[in-house]
Amino acid sequence: MIRTTLASDTPALLALSEATGAFKPIEIQALREVLDDYHSSMKALGHRSVSYVLDGQPGGFAYYAPAAMTDRTWYLYWIVVDVRAHGRGIGTELMQYVEADVNASRGRLLLIETSSMPHYDSTRRFYAKLGYECTATIKDYYADRDDMVVFRKTLRAFPE
Ligand SMILES: CC(C)(COP(=O)(O)OP(=O)(O)OC[C@H]1O[C@@H](n2cnc3c(N)ncnc32)[C@H](O)[C@@H]1OP(=O)(O)O)[C@@H](O)C(=O)NCCC(=O)NCCS
Repeated sequence: MIRTTLASDTPALLALSEATGAFKPIEIQALREVLDDYHSSMKALGHRSVSYVLDGQPGGFAYYAPAAMTDRTWYLYWIVVDVRAHGRGIGTELMQYVEADVNASRGRLLLIETSSMPHYDSTRRFYAKLGYECTATIKDYYADRDDMVVFRKTLRAFPE
């Protein structure tokens, strides 16, 4: 089941994100702030976060929001699945939920930023498999030899 992320999900979401080994400690700290800010203010400003509930516990989440000063462009900021459940289709279900929700909000374009580092190879394959196109690379963005890779997907076109 996928539902809106609750404030009580935060400890489990931080723990499962840390357990993937994909994120630096500073990124886990940033995630804590993102989730706290989401519940205190950003949800009311249009940001969205959904949790995948697995055996009654949060087993993953996705965080997304409209990009300021654009015509219906959205960003997926976070997607994480419990490492014990990788490769079972949960990430795909979360992405399908996000795309349907953004479509329902008349979103036009969905962007995702990720890293060029080898430990993100499978993450980049995940986005490519879901129809995302690599549209830009910013060399050395995160650190020397750690580029930002931007993926894009055009969503359903709506009449003006
Ligand atoms: C990327 C991620 C969200 C995908 O979730 P998932 O539930 O494992 O993905 P699904 O089962 O729906 O899709 C599997 C596909 O994703 C890719 N994939 C990415 N990571 C994988 C993993 N650890 N195990 C298996 N497949 C993985 C493969 O291409 C796979 O396709 P295949 O089955 O044809 O080989 C998840 O692996 C994850 O949490 N990774 C660490 C955090 C991360 O990198 N987040 C994105 C930051 S930009």
